[in-house]
Amino acid sequence: MPRSLHADYLLSFIFNINTHATLSSSLLPIIMPGLTIGDTIPDLEAETTQGKINLHHFCSNSWTILFSHPGDFTPVCTTELGKMAEYAKEFNQRGVKLLGLSCDDIQSHNEWIKDIEAFTPGCKVSYPIMSDPKREIIKKLNMVDPDEKDSSGNNLPSRALHIVGPDLQVKLSFLYPATTGRNMDEVVRVVESLQKASKFKIATPANWKPGDPAVIQPSVTDQQAKDMFPQGFETKDLPSGKNYLRFTKV
Ligand code: BEZ
Repeated sequence: MPRSLHADYLLSFIFNINTHATLSSSLLPIIMPGLTIGDTIPDLEAETTQGKINLHHFCSNSWTILFSHPGDFTPVCTTELGKMAEYAKEFNQRGVKLLGLSCDDIQSHNEWIKDIEAFTPGCKVSYPIMSDPKREIIKKLNMVDPDEKDSSGNNLPSRALHIVGPDLQVKLSFLYPATTGRNMDEVVRVVESLQKASKFKIATPANWKPGDPAVIQPSVTDQQAKDMFPQGFETKDLPSGKNYLRFTKV
């Protein structure tokens, strides 16, 4: 008996099944299957431009940015990988490893790297780039673009970006279509936010930039905040009279 769509929906939550392959694309905006915030990344082997890796081994005990690209020798991707090379120092300083992915094979990646480095003078692509010719890894990492296909009709990766914590859990994800390149300043900004929130009971407000005050998490009482933030904090007066908007520098 065919499985109902409702059953697919439930199974996707219970077993974290990627239902892209089984559900019609009209349902995809409602259902967000696959790897998401809080999930442990799958343990898989991958070929990269720097040799074979085991994903858990590569990512454990450090922060990692996993980022995918629709394809080699494409314009936006070439600018993005160049920018990643340019920003590699920023990520290094924050203890963050980079790991790219494009489905084409390693020989193609190595040829493409020459273009990327020529387009971004002075920058070396020092991070590994995975290949995924069978499109198995992009499914496991929730990096499939349902709309973009190659000339053989195979799905291409979206511009997905997962920031993975040292505990191998996804802390934050971007999901952009092929037509929108990512902003690496935003990637640095969210890394800083995640790393601060992992050390202190804070959150970062709208348009926060590194160096700006953060807000104290609502679960922290004022008494606890005095102990946690000896540098002090400022409570905003609000019409409700509720003292929940408290700024501090961390
Ligand atoms: C690009 O990287 O420029 C690109 C790739 C696929 C579709 C559209 C743009």
